[in-house]
Amino acid sequence: MSISLPVGLDRYDGKLRFVEQDLTSLAADFGTPLYVYAEEVLEQQACAWREGMQRCFGERALVAYATKANDRLRVLQTLARAGCGFDIVSEGEMLRALASGVDPERVVFSGVGKSDLELRSALSKGVRHINVESESELLRLSKVAEQQGTHASVSLRLTPDIAAGGHDKISTGRKTDKFGIAPERALALWRQPWHGITFDGVAVHCGSQICDLALFEQAFRFVVEWAQKMQTLSLPVRRLDLGGGIGIDERGEPALSPLLYARAAQKWLAPVLDEKTRILVEPGRAIAAAAGLLLTRVLDRKRIEDRTCLVVDAGMNNFLRCALYDAHHRLLPVVCKNTLAKHTQKTKTWVVGPVCESSDTFGTHEGLEQAAIGDLLALCSAGAYGAVMASDYNARTRAAEVFIEHDGNTLLLRAREDARVRLAEEESLVRA
Ligand code: LLP
Repeated sequence: MSISLPVGLDRYDGKLRFVEQDLTSLAADFGTPLYVYAEEVLEQQACAWREGMQRCFGERALVAYATKANDRLRVLQTLARAGCGFDIVSEGEMLRALASGVDPERVVFSGVGKSDLELRSALSKGVRHINVESESELLRLSKVAEQQGTHASVSLRLTPDIAAGGHDKISTGRKTDKFGIAPERALALWRQPWHGITFDGVAVHCGSQICDLALFEQAFRFVVEWAQKMQTLSLPVRRLDLGGGIGIDERGEPALSPLLYARAAQKWLAPVLDEKTRILVEPGRAIAAAAGLLLTRVLDRKRIEDRTCLVVDAGMNNFLRCALYDAHHRLLPVVCKNTLAKHTQKTKTWVVGPVCESSDTFGTHEGLEQAAIGDLLALCSAGAYGAVMASDYNARTRAAEVFIEHDGNTLLLRAREDARVRLAEEESLVRA
């Protein structure tokens, strides 16, 4: 059975469109490789999360979008307007999140390595909700807060020892992973008096691209258990941060519906909730992935042994997920050719990037037998962990990024990098 087109895509006269915009014209106007984001899809995904969580937790729910998935300002503005808060992991992300106009009260600072400068900067900007990942971080935060004559609201990120996530490299909740604090250690920290620190709850994050609700339920059970331990120490539980990690399906939709997820959370968390407890969820991929695609052009076509290989102009420097995690993203031809295809439909075509590494491959795909040099392809579900993970490896350039607004207006968010400009800048430094 063929899978329907990813969210936001349709075909009109055989041509692929994204939120009704003609991708061929976008490629002609802005060149390739090109990231294309759609406000409509972004907002739809965010609203599904907000509504699902609100139905179960009312105003106590906070969808704190994981900024790392896609931190472009226009993306963050859309999400702030849709009622999201933000999960951030660096000062840079904080500056971007705040620039979207969000209330700093709706921002939570996570991350395994925060410098004193970053902690100071957060507190001075009113970002007080900090998820602390170690005892020494707590000590540093306490000093910084005291120096500033303020206090931080701290949830300890506890390690649930749950093996979850779509790939070893994006599993974060095992006790051998670098993240978080062993739960038994938290008891000792909660018992001590700390200057400048108010403990407000528990945070977890087990990994990314998790599609099994049972794994989240394990995490919810763990959260409740440790929140109850806080309560027995007379520490009020004001914040439960469930982390992100909800996977997506082939169409870019959340693999678990936000409402289903929220209902399960509600069921498990009930024993520790009161009207003042804020419940946070931090989806990144499940909000941003479907809202973006990467347009790329076929540079070359050749036979390697018994298979056809297309070399495209986007490489692992533009989109790293396939090389790094063996991730599979659908690649669709922008113009559907009259196919011989019916009987060859099951033939898989190998698609690779131009970077000089064997890992620079986008895997094998059906439906590309007819693709020729110069043809456009769309890599789907590329709105999360796409452009944000780009590099200039092989002295290649980062792709341009455009954003289709509700009214169809196309905004250039980032111009294509220019290798000559980059070289000229470096030459001026070397000469100085
Ligand atoms: N909260 C915390 C504390 C996180 O570390 C992450 C992701 C999230 C939320 C959001 O997770 P999501 O809902 O997007 O799965 N580059 C990898 C993903 C790394 C995720 C790191 N942390 C990839 O492309 O698959």
